[in-house]
Amino acid sequence: MSDVRETQAAIGVLISGRGSNLQALIDASRERRLGAPIRVVVSNRADALGLDRARAAGIETVVLPHTQAPDREAYDRALVQVLRERGVTLVCLAGFMRLLGPVFCEAFPDRVLNIHPSLLPAFPGMRAQAQALRHGVKVSGATVHFVTPALDDGPIVLQEAVPVYDDDTEETLSARILEVEHRIYPEAVRRVLAGGWRIEGRRVLFASTDSRDER
Ligand code: GAR
Repeated sequence: MSDVRETQAAIGVLISGRGSNLQALIDASRERRLGAPIRVVVSNRADALGLDRARAAGIETVVLPHTQAPDREAYDRALVQVLRERGVTLVCLAGFMRLLGPVFCEAFPDRVLNIHPSLLPAFPGMRAQAQALRHGVKVSGATVHFVTPALDDGPIVLQEAVPVYDDDTEETLSARILEVEHRIYPEAVRRVLAGGWRIEGRRVLFASTDSRDER
């Protein structure tokens, strides 16, 4: 049970690309809506646009190319070291397109969050919005969940649905989902850092009526 508000909490964000979810977290942090500062942004790609967003916000950036690590375990260990050295207590994956293994997940138990552009467990993996269109679902959405070594799996913290329209393309559906992502990710981080929740099986249960709050 995470029943104590974390006093020394610090956030590390992992990215691989554009970083619009990172920006939503930066904006929320500026407005003191997150509950902790963003201490570092780590990218596995030197050309990730999100690195510029971090720099513009005065946040330390680290580029850790996965191509230079001999294997996944070594990469995970290097990531853990970068985050630990900076006192990170909560890790947020924001478009980080690498699978993290047990070494990483065990270093931050119940302290790694991910955002995914579908209503999990539907459509894990790449191009979730295209998968949703292809499948013909009428509703899709976004999910924030705790990370386990399994792809886009792990206990769900927050979800929100969006409609899928007949004339949607991958781009229009992605844009509609992204708006929701930018709203629910900071909110999920705030709730996790506020404490008062526990995980039972796959369920994340909030002690208060918080989960019924309006978003
Ligand atoms: C977001 O749509 C995020 O949900 C997705 O990548 C995009 C990153 O955009 N993540 C996944 O698909 C994880 N499986 P961003 O870099 O602008 O935040």
